[in-house]
Amino acid sequence: MRGVFVTGTGTEVGKTVVAAAIARTLAAAGEKVAVFKPAVTGLDDPGEADHELLRRAGGSAQGDAEIAPYRYGPPASPHLAAETAGEEIDPERLLEAACAAAGDADALVCEGVGGLLVPLAEDYLVLDLTVDLKLPLVVAASPGLGTINHTLLTIEVARGAGLEVAVVVLTPWPEQPSLIEESNRETIAAIGEVRVETLPELDLRDPGSWPALPLPARG
Ligand SMILES: Nc1ncnc2c1ncn2[C@@H]1O[C@H](COP(=O)(O)OP(=O)(O)OP(=O)(O)O)[C@@H](O)[C@H]1O
Ligand SMILES: [Mg+2]
Repeated sequence: MRGVFVTGTGTEVGKTVVAAAIARTLAAAGEKVAVFKPAVTGLDDPGEADHELLRRAGGSAQGDAEIAPYRYGPPASPHLAAETAGEEIDPERLLEAACAAAGDADALVCEGVGGLLVPLAEDYLVLDLTVDLKLPLVVAASPGLGTINHTLLTIEVARGAGLEVAVVVLTPWPEQPSLIEESNRETIAAIGEVRVETLPELDLRDPGSWPALPLPARG
């Protein structure tokens, strides 16, 4: 399966934006993109849901259930949202859905849920799904204070599970980065021995205006 798995240092760090930028870049190059998110929560909240932005960015014709097999209203961790809905997330079903989504697409762009150690089900973390999908990891992270520790922890957990960390993307990267932000970028690259890219503030309404964020080459 060609593609990426976009994780992050936590929740609300820019996973959807980074995944959308990659999906858009592929689509703009004429590739057929499939997007996937194992579980979406918080559908009760107003605004565009993650799977909707991913679909729009990738120009995909997938239905909601094809992108995100588990969808919940409350903004809770997926295992809790599932429990509240009286069900359990089934890892087998997730893998089947991801493979089905990939189908005849040229590339699959997956977004995780929260960070790598978020449980999807009992004994099944987002990390386990990334291992099972065998896709290179993209780590979305904030540019500012606190990001070194969060990013290096994420890289260490990923590598400990045998995963390839293809790139860290700092987002949204300011037009005039501060000393701290510049230093964070260099420090993560040096200590994490990882490629670090940046993504500027995007106008999310207009994918046509976004800069390219190419699929990382397989190492
Ligand atoms: N490059 C960017 N351009 C514009 N907005 C950004 C950018 N990076 C992050 N954001 C903003 O930061 C917030 C969090 O981003 P996003 O929704 O992608 O995070 P997430 O990690 O996917 O969150 P969740 O854990 O809920 O899935 C959003 O309001 C998003 O618009
Ligand atoms: Mg998201």
